Amino acid sequence: MSQTSSSRLLRWGCVLLPPALLAAGFAWAAGLFSPHRLSTARFMTVLENGGGAAPGFRRAHSKGLCVLGQFDASGAMTAYSSAAVFSQSHIPVTGRLALAPPFPHIVDGPGIVRSMALRLQPDHAQEWRTTMNDPPLQPMRDIQDAFASFSANQRDPVTHKPDPRLAKAYEEARPWLKTAYAANRAHVMSSDFANDTFNSIDSFQVTNAQGERHTVRWSMVPVSPPEAPVRPEDAHDPNVLFTHVIASLHQQPLRWNLVVTIANPSDPVNDPSQPWAPTDRTVTAGTLTLHSSASEDNSPCGGMVFDPTILPSGLSLSGDPLPALRSAVYMRSFVRRSGETKDPSSITPAMTQPH
Ligand code: HEM
Repeated sequence: MSQTSSSRLLRWGCVLLPPALLAAGFAWAAGLFSPHRLSTARFMTVLENGGGAAPGFRRAHSKGLCVLGQFDASGAMTAYSSAAVFSQSHIPVTGRLALAPPFPHIVDGPGIVRSMALRLQPDHAQEWRTTMNDPPLQPMRDIQDAFASFSANQRDPVTHKPDPRLAKAYEEARPWLKTAYAANRAHVMSSDFANDTFNSIDSFQVTNAQGERHTVRWSMVPVSPPEAPVRPEDAHDPNVLFTHVIASLHQQPLRWNLVVTIANPSDPVNDPSQPWAPTDRTVTAGTLTLHSSASEDNSPCGGMVFDPTILPSGLSLSGDPLPALRSAVYMRSFVRRSGETKDPSSITPAMTQPH
């Protein structure tokens, strides 16, 4: 090869190599070289095949209601965490009460997992976002379980229903989830959102001003929940749970205590499928007061991502593997839904107005 042609080759190499490397990098990140890697794209595919592909809606917890209120810290958690959310009062809160399935128009009913997502914005300090469900434990211990669980709940293209044999097979292949299934089956559902307890299930770490660390989980425990028997005229309301909580909020504010459980050294802190000792120390960190609601169609909570890894300093991730996965998947869900045209929600702006 002449000197001119080899230097031409070298020049072309210099021009083509960087974009080729960049393309290879993107392909690697997208999982093209490792199709079995559990990428967020693969998670989205199984979540959407599970039914969660209603355009513009969240890929899980798709039916929801925005709520507004405040959090007043008791000060008791300052011994464990330097986060401002544990020392301030009148902290503005934006939240969302939802049903966990990926169906935005699901008919409300007993036995459907309910959730509470919150964004706490203290004055001149970092915000905290937290998401809680009402079962006590998560029947998955790690990312592999999470993928297998969502895969087992995919809808059959012909029947449009998940195959119950797959869910059974998932459970039977994982004896380590026996306790979680038993606890969740024994969990008695409350009648309403207002008298429900919501649990972080995942663990996190708190750090105090002296740098001491503890692993914690937390729950929102209802304070003197108002009795809300279903009125006969509401018995066939497909949105009965939401209608109820909207009506309760028109009558009076609803309150929950934030109860933080401090792990003891023998608790399985990195596994959201396992219970902690019932004798663990608990701290009442403060009170959440919700005073009003709004449809997600005309309130900021519709566009919010309640990413459980948005934590203020003084609160951080523990060794629990799920929050990091959830963060990545929630962002993907947000990217998809924010680029789509959304139908009106079942809970319309008119429904949240006083009658
Ligand atoms: C301890 C376990 C979990 C809890 C407590 C939890 C709780 C929640 C809550 C409360 C929401 C609703 C947030 C809102 O109202 O905007 C939510 C949304 C969601 N969750 Fe989870 N979740 C858990 C595990 C998972 C896992 C393992 C996945 C999948 C890898 C997942 C996927 C999703 C998705 C895709 C959304 C919708 C995000 C968005 O578009 O904003 N969740 N979760």
